[in-house]
Amino acid sequence: MKRLVIAIDGPSGAGKGTVARVLASTLGYRHIDSGAMYRAVGWKALRDGVALDDEDAVVALVESSVVHIDTTTVTIDGHDVTRAIRTPQIDKAAAAVARLPRVRVILVDRQRALGAAGGVVMEGRDIGTVVFPLADVKIYMDASEEERARRRANDSAHSGGPKAVAEVATLLTERDRLDRTRTASPLVAAPDAVVIDTTDKPIDAVVEEVLGIVKRSQS
Ligand code: C5P
Repeated sequence: MKRLVIAIDGPSGAGKGTVARVLASTLGYRHIDSGAMYRAVGWKALRDGVALDDEDAVVALVESSVVHIDTTTVTIDGHDVTRAIRTPQIDKAAAAVARLPRVRVILVDRQRALGAAGGVVMEGRDIGTVVFPLADVKIYMDASEEERARRRANDSAHSGGPKAVAEVATLLTERDRLDRTRTASPLVAAPDAVVIDTTDKPIDAVVEEVLGIVKRSQS
């Protein structure tokens, strides 16, 4: 059976990560969280004191970095940053480096290489629009702002201490605004994406829905 490229985009807290992970393991595909790449770059820039808006410096940093992502671990230059990149500080740093067009070009190239052979579920913001405009399946997941903030506040993988939903909501709204309004590959649903609102849907139901779409595109 053809091994597909499945693109899952949407804002944070829409449920992309959980759905992408379950989908990949059900299909025996590779799961790639492209956001983790931007996060790892943001982490290294902060560590090395590189200004997040200095495009030349961040480009040089990315070019000399080896980012490795698998289902459970994210490393940059061999450092395990799996947990360190899930903090409010790195949320901001990742969104800042993701605004830099030449940084995106390099990471998009790497994402394309990772998905070139198919058999991949890749999640992010621009997978169906820029990275794989010809993806076999494109899903755009969204949910209400309140629900996304609630999920993020309860996400134990996302550290930085317990946070009130209202505080998380403010940070999330600001990051969404940055992602949606940037010039380079803003967050937007591809015209041919299937849009799924996950506000009141259990994850299992979303996975079933996407599996149905995948099956139809395989037949
Ligand atoms: O998905 P996640 O929240 O981990 O992504 C962190 C940040 O990386 C996003 O806020 C966004 O600015 C950026 N990103 C991106 N394009 C992607 C994935 C993530 O610009 N494909």
